[in-house]
Amino acid sequence: MNDDLTKTVKGAPARPAAESLRRLRAATAKASAGGGAARVEAQKARGKFSARERIHYLLDEGSFQELDLLVSTRAVEFGLKDKDIPGDGVITGFGQINGREVCVYAQDFTVIGGSLGRAHADKICKVMDLALQNRVPVIGLLDSGGARIQEGVDSLDGYAEIFARNVQASGVIPQISVILGPCAGGAVYSPALTDYVFMVEGISNMFVTGPDVVKAATGEEVSAEQLGGCDAHASKSGVCHFVAKSEPDCFRQVRELLGYLPQSRFEKPPRVANPDPLRRQVPLLEKMCELDPRRPYRIHHIIWQIADEHKFFEVQSAYAKNIVTGFCRMGGEVVGVVANNPAHLAGALDINASDKAARFIRFLNAFNIPVLTLVDVPGYWPGVQQEHGGIIRHGAKILHAYAEATVPKITVILRKAYGGAYIAMSSKHMRADFNFALPCAEIAVMGPAGAVEILYAREIAACKTDEEKLALKAKLSAEYAAKFASPYQTASTGSLDEVVEPSQLRYKIARALRFLKDKRAPGTHENRGNIPL
Ligand code: HXC
Repeated sequence: MNDDLTKTVKGAPARPAAESLRRLRAATAKASAGGGAARVEAQKARGKFSARERIHYLLDEGSFQELDLLVSTRAVEFGLKDKDIPGDGVITGFGQINGREVCVYAQDFTVIGGSLGRAHADKICKVMDLALQNRVPVIGLLDSGGARIQEGVDSLDGYAEIFARNVQASGVIPQISVILGPCAGGAVYSPALTDYVFMVEGISNMFVTGPDVVKAATGEEVSAEQLGGCDAHASKSGVCHFVAKSEPDCFRQVRELLGYLPQSRFEKPPRVANPDPLRRQVPLLEKMCELDPRRPYRIHHIIWQIADEHKFFEVQSAYAKNIVTGFCRMGGEVVGVVANNPAHLAGALDINASDKAARFIRFLNAFNIPVLTLVDVPGYWPGVQQEHGGIIRHGAKILHAYAEATVPKITVILRKAYGGAYIAMSSKHMRADFNFALPCAEIAVMGPAGAVEILYAREIAACKTDEEKLALKAKLSAEYAAKFASPYQTASTGSLDEVVEPSQLRYKIARALRFLKDKRAPGTHENRGNIPL
């Protein structure tokens, strides 16, 4: 064996020193330059980062390992043969976030509009496969004109390969989509199949058919921003889970979200040291019991009080505000919170709230995250629009999600828990593990006013004057409230495990979570897809 590496093999043509290195460096530099200086400038002029900058800001410094930099399209039609398409318009690889591995891809709009050709799709599929096989999250940074028109069905098939992988990975590894430019046509369905969609104000758009098609088809005139910008998807359609003011803010939020999630369904979420005493008093909850039962309040104030260090990371904060979903820690362990919010629609359950809560609960169950349910719910939101919109079908999703969930489930009734909504919000017989209530909780088939109208209809009708009616109703309501609008009938049947002193609530929840940490219920190890609901 020739161990002198500077000598050439006898008879082989000599190559100029370092030629191969020069070739690699030239190819790397060309492929890394994206669509060239002018297009990169245009990207910047729109207030957007380049695809490479995005990866740099998202990942831990210096952790990115690129794959397939030198891949190029095999398509030749419509002049593609002569076009330079560095990396086929997408950067792919793996790196770390807070020291934990992730797979990532970033579409490069400066290269034929980030359009998705077959090689581009194959690169994305490769990192998705790596993520799934190695059980790490996958993050897509999307900025694309959609299917590469010149590649025809090959490009559509590329999308199909991505969608199929999104479904295969659903509930197995966390999948995150960050929309950082246009995302149009069928391309929107990959983000929709992933667990969380982020958008950035002023630069992100998502729609199946753009403003021009909408105008041609329906006559409606609408801008891209109105049709598919952040506001449309964060507050109206519910497609978007997180809105950021800028790209750096967006990447910070992605990193924060990942801090609450396990790497895959085969792990538990990361535990952190908890400096916040478990027995910390929660004075605000004492006040809760002095509150007029009809008075609205923002449930966030209660969550902040209970959570470790008052931190709550809200999911879908602008959508269906009558229910609040998000992550916090209790005693250092991650918990998913589902809470009625009396500040909006009195905290009642409607169609959108049902979908929002059900999908979140299913996500928590897929990824071994306990559910803390905070209840203050007067019932389902009434109305023809709700009934015809399918509140029966949508409301059933919450029941299904809670009953199938095998992760630890703790429920606290803070104030109202009436009728079907009491059952739906993780009641004992829907298989919650621990059910607590504050002393001011009101648990009944319906509220006092509605109940006396039905129970005493004849007596009320027999009253001669309106004053007489009002007085009778007030008396009967007070009697009903004394009997049913309290936690004690429910506690007497065991449907509540404990009526808790408000000041002790944080400790009770954290202690119950600790007890449940190794809970094993039938079905615990099953695969659970996170189907979009
Ligand atoms: C090929 C594309 C492209 C595409 C953009 N480009 N989209 N090339 N296929 N889908 C190219 C442009 O020709 C241009 O090339 C460069 O990218 C930048 O695009 P511009 O139009 O100059 O940029 P801008 O004005 O910012 O407009 C961006 C845009 C627009 C709104 C995204 O490009 C657009 O409407 N594109 C088409 C969108 C679309 O209809 N896509 C197909 C959707 S259907 P040059 O060389 O001039 O710089 C679909 C089906 C998926 O995606 C189905 C999955 C199941």
